[in-house]
Amino acid sequence: MWDINLVYREKLQATYNRLYEKKAILQQSRPLPKIALQKIQEALSIEWTYNTNSIEGNTLSLRETQMVLQEGITVKGKSLREHFEAKNHETALKRLYKMVENKQVLDAKSILELHSYVLRSIEDDYAGRLRNGGVRIAGANFLPPNAQKVSDLLDELVEFVGQNPLQLNSIELATIFHHKLVWIHPFFDGNGRTVRLAMNLELMQEGFPPAIILTNDRKKYYEALNQANKGDYFKLSLLMAQALERTLNIYLNAMPGSDDNYREISNLVKEESLPYSQEYISLLARQGKIDAYKEGRNWLTTKQAIEDYRLKRERNR
Ligand SMILES: Nc1ncnc2c1ncn2[C@@H]1O[C@H](COP(=O)(O)OP(=O)(O)OP(=O)(O)O)[C@@H](O)[C@H]1O
Ligand SMILES: [Mg+2]
Repeated sequence: MWDINLVYREKLQATYNRLYEKKAILQQSRPLPKIALQKIQEALSIEWTYNTNSIEGNTLSLRETQMVLQEGITVKGKSLREHFEAKNHETALKRLYKMVENKQVLDAKSILELHSYVLRSIEDDYAGRLRNGGVRIAGANFLPPNAQKVSDLLDELVEFVGQNPLQLNSIELATIFHHKLVWIHPFFDGNGRTVRLAMNLELMQEGFPPAIILTNDRKKYYEALNQANKGDYFKLSLLMAQALERTLNIYLNAMPGSDDNYREISNLVKEESLPYSQEYISLLARQGKIDAYKEGRNWLTTKQAIEDYRLKRERNR
């Protein structure tokens, strides 16, 4: 299970360096005011809950998710199941933040515990339990392993993450953990939501904010998982790095004195004189070659990021 093709690494080295730099800036600067931190964390929790459940087919909108979580109301026309999925995920998140605080290691027990919150009151028979039968993943190019192997595979995976024999950085490790866990598919249901929680236990313990996979990127995410099933981790690694950068930027932009100068590329090209076309800058953003992040359907970047890229190119010539 561990022959992992690492050729993707070189292409992402600059991106990883940038993410670590951003983390360092966050950690070195004075902590954000408590209120500001709380506000960001709350907004991220709602976003995270909305996106992870929407990927899975839940039809609550972001606004409706917010109403359920903050005002406790049930939304007309939505099933109780959908309501519980939002509530449960919030509970799971609270537990997750506690786990981070307590420096709880990522092990089979903590994964099962997170899973139990995800499915509680919805599929109580499955909650916190490994599957004892076969599963299929719609649209996937493989069949998850036999149920009898699940427990051992899960232990192996946890050991791999704990020992990190390939000396991967924590973002890579979280990415590979993410893929291997959904590949094992240890549960009858709730695999995706659980791994998107557990992966972040890993990242948050390293001092990163959570990486949130957006429902807008669902197709890309599934395609990236299919590539990973074939041993190619590039797309998934890029997607994770971009998700992480987005939240890093949210925190950085909240820092006192930060001038939030990320702008939509289409606006940037209109307002500034830039050395490249809109199409080319968008391509660089999608490929992770410049400091950029996606919000909704749009990529945002800064004039400085484009200038940095141009200078680097010149130097390399
Ligand atoms: N082609 C694929 N290869 C490997 N894993 C996949 C593939 N397609 C989807 N997955 C993973 O399986 C998850 C779906 O599994 P499952 O339905 O048990 O989880 P869920 O939480 O109920 O729903 P979801 O994960 O869709 O939010 C996806 O979220 C994704 O993480
Ligand atoms: Mg499901």
